[in-house]
Amino acid sequence: MNHHRGPVMTARSATMTRWGVSAMIALAAACGGSGSEQAATTTVAVRDTVLPAPAESLLTQDSASQSIRRGMALMLATRDSLPSHVGNELHCTSCHLNKGRKPFGNPLVGVANRYPAMWERTGTTVTLEDRVNDCFRRGLNGKPLAAGSTEMRDILAYLTWLSTELPKGPHAGLGVDSIPLIPADTVRGKTQFAMYCSRCHGPEGQGGKNLGVQHPGPPLWGNGSFTIGSGMARQRIVAAFVHHHMPFDAPGFVADSIANDVAGFVLSRPRPDFPGKELDWPNGNAPDDLRYKTKAQAAAPAAKQ
Ligand code: HEC
Ligand code: HEC
Repeated sequence: MNHHRGPVMTARSATMTRWGVSAMIALAAACGGSGSEQAATTTVAVRDTVLPAPAESLLTQDSASQSIRRGMALMLATRDSLPSHVGNELHCTSCHLNKGRKPFGNPLVGVANRYPAMWERTGTTVTLEDRVNDCFRRGLNGKPLAAGSTEMRDILAYLTWLSTELPKGPHAGLGVDSIPLIPADTVRGKTQFAMYCSRCHGPEGQGGKNLGVQHPGPPLWGNGSFTIGSGMARQRIVAAFVHHHMPFDAPGFVADSIANDVAGFVLSRPRPDFPGKELDWPNGNAPDDLRYKTKAQAAAPAAKQ
């Protein structure tokens, strides 16, 4: 258990995760602790969860390894490498942290073993290629890669390699974890954003590339950010992501309620639209934190929640 030292008011809550790990979340209400003290409070669940994936040092100079490396590079520098396919300032790894390896950071370890699969959002069976292109369109506000293009092949090579050690099936650390969906107090969220987020993501959520900080964050809203159709535009996903991984240099102290408030505030700001979003979840089972109405919901309002 870790404590914030100094004149800091600390409220702590113990949360049971799905895996029964007791995670201590320390929230510094008036945060005077140094970065390293905050880092020490990183939730137990993230620190103790391992997603087995091959080490980069195992890559060689053969053509398969080179394709994997190119795929990895595309995911790290998506906008610079593929400007005609990316309409905002994000990279794949803005949301799939640590090159897709981070537990609860939307990891992509094992992903190649899970597709093709039925997907509730389309109501159809989708391929891994479909999912990659879906993130190009919704996460990066851009255009899909052509099937069979070198770039798509390289990204798939990376994801397939990353998946070699994790078979299909449930595993701790996938997704972003679930924390309770608490109605957001966006006024409080705005204050918390100014305290804990704006130093890297900019006071207007525009991103930190001009702020001269060590870890500039990508845009959280506005034209440079993800579309309303992205999974990241759901409060539950942002809240869990922030709870576990933000602030980037000192994660693990943003309590559930604050994470929900900040997520609610961030998502209340304007962002790029995603035409066609109303066709999502055609079977009427749209999640309760979606910020748009689907046609299927309108057709069968009783089915909603
Ligand atoms: C120390 C700088 C820093 C701070 C402070 C910080 N972030 Fe981030 N944030 C980052 C970086 C860097 C990334 C992208 C990670 C990468 O590229 O590896 C990121 C990514 C994100 C993302 C996903 C990508 C996107 O653009 O949507 C969200 C959401 C996010 N941060 C929200 C927050 C919130 C909310 C806070 C405040 C509680 C916060 N961050 C505080 C640096 C920071
Ligand atoms: C704005 C954040 C964001 C960006 C940028 C983004 N993704 Fe995603 N991605 C997500 C989220 C959130 C999910 C899971 C929920 C969903 O699909 O809506 C996801 C899901 C996926 C999946 C399916 C994962 C699974 O477990 O089923 C793949 C594959 C994927 N992304 C690849 C990529 C690639 C490749 C890029 C870059 C070309 C990218 N993503 C860019 C947020 C993002």
